[in-house]
Amino acid sequence: MSSSSCVVHVALLPSAGMGHLTPFLRLAAMLCHHHCHVTLITPKPTVSNAESMLLSKFFSAFPQVNQLNLHLLPSSSGTANADPFFLQFDAIRRSCHLLHPLLSSLSPPLASFVYDMTLISPVLPVATAIGVPHYILFTSSASMFCFFSCFPNAAESICDSDGFDIPGFSYVSKSWIPPQLLDINAIFRKLFLEDSPKVTKLDGVFLNTFEEVESKTLKALNAGELVKDLPPVHALGPFVPCYEFEGLCETGEPLKWLDEQPDGSVLYVCFGSRTALESNQIREIGDGLLRSGFRFLWVMKGNKVDTEDEEKRLEGVLGIELVEKIIKENKGMVVKEWVDQRQILDHSAVGGFFSHCGWNSVMEAAFYGVPILGWPLAGDQKINAEFVVSNGGFGTWKKDWGWEGERLVRGEEIGDAIKELMSNESFFAKAEQVKMVARKAISIGGSSEINLHKLIEEWKKSQ
Ligand SMILES: *[C@@H]1O[C@H](CO)[C@@H](O)[C@H](O)[C@H]1NC(C)=O
Repeated sequence: MSSSSCVVHVALLPSAGMGHLTPFLRLAAMLCHHHCHVTLITPKPTVSNAESMLLSKFFSAFPQVNQLNLHLLPSSSGTANADPFFLQFDAIRRSCHLLHPLLSSLSPPLASFVYDMTLISPVLPVATAIGVPHYILFTSSASMFCFFSCFPNAAESICDSDGFDIPGFSYVSKSWIPPQLLDINAIFRKLFLEDSPKVTKLDGVFLNTFEEVESKTLKALNAGELVKDLPPVHALGPFVPCYEFEGLCETGEPLKWLDEQPDGSVLYVCFGSRTALESNQIREIGDGLLRSGFRFLWVMKGNKVDTEDEEKRLEGVLGIELVEKIIKENKGMVVKEWVDQRQILDHSAVGGFFSHCGWNSVMEAAFYGVPILGWPLAGDQKINAEFVVSNGGFGTWKKDWGWEGERLVRGEEIGDAIKELMSNESFFAKAEQVKMVARKAISIGGSSEINLHKLIEEWKKSQ
């Protein structure tokens, strides 16, 4: 047993953005805890400070993890106004062929290779040439994966019809579908169409979800009801924040403030690492928070990418009157830095989460048992928000608020929605139930833990 041939060596390749990097690092930590040898491929340079910081924390917490730099070729579409995350993502796709010599010389040889859902087409030839079992980590729900895997066949009919049916899930109305997928000129649609038919070439798909909350959907996928020859889909979640590298000692202030608030009294407000709302919308949110009468901890992002963050003063965004009111009523705290969401959601004072419903946030809220008021702004987030309502019942969302910037959502509407969430006991009860199930899934003998264990045993046998 002591020979290195028994060690399973797994390589992981994340893509751009905290929403993709974070689940990869959590998966890496899980594999380390299961005594795998892990190589983490890091595309260089990284796109944001938040990402570089998280990576360096990860490597100090897990010195046994082998870091392999992928030096990126320049992106093809270097227009000044392009989204930096998109450019990074494009650069990663264009650089994947450089992986071949890097991966084939690894020792011990790889037993498994897990890469980001957005890298299927460029990585597939490399993984096939090396001959290693390979998987994507799909960083969303099983329902969204249904949509992804059926998309090429359904694309035309979706454009013409008013929605889409997902087994074990609500009917997905057309307005919930990521707008970029309906726009026939959008690059993401082209990538979806190019990558999705290739899922049958993978050895499997990993999801940050758990069987208990998406059982019908997972069954339908694994029974081949949606796509013929689909490889096994493995639910391995919820991926939990990992105290070894995600603890931030610097978040003292918000936590100190939370310590002084009564249990379940505070609404935590955060629209993700990538959302920077228009100032007039931010002011309406501030107004809505005050109108609700509930305490709040609001994490506000002024800019999309923190490397360019000019220190905008809070008064500049919120207006001096609103800031003074918040201070006077002493009911809220507004912070502008990246916070340790784990410690906030885990805090007994927090009784609700006003969220954009990024999938990682939804899974974290499930794990910590915090009810959600969803305000889906982009991408898969409406489908994620509906998951909260229909697959757990631990929250609500307003279907008529639209995508980011579609319309100005008024403070009055926001205040009412907050009251609806925070004063309804049934959401707390449901959140508590989901939390129990989520914790069971990842403990020893739980559904997700068994799924991961089985995979590792398979890799051991096949090497
Ligand atoms: C509380 O929420 C549930 C949905 O979970 C809903 O059916 C019920 O009507 C709500 N109760 C009140 C008083 O709003």
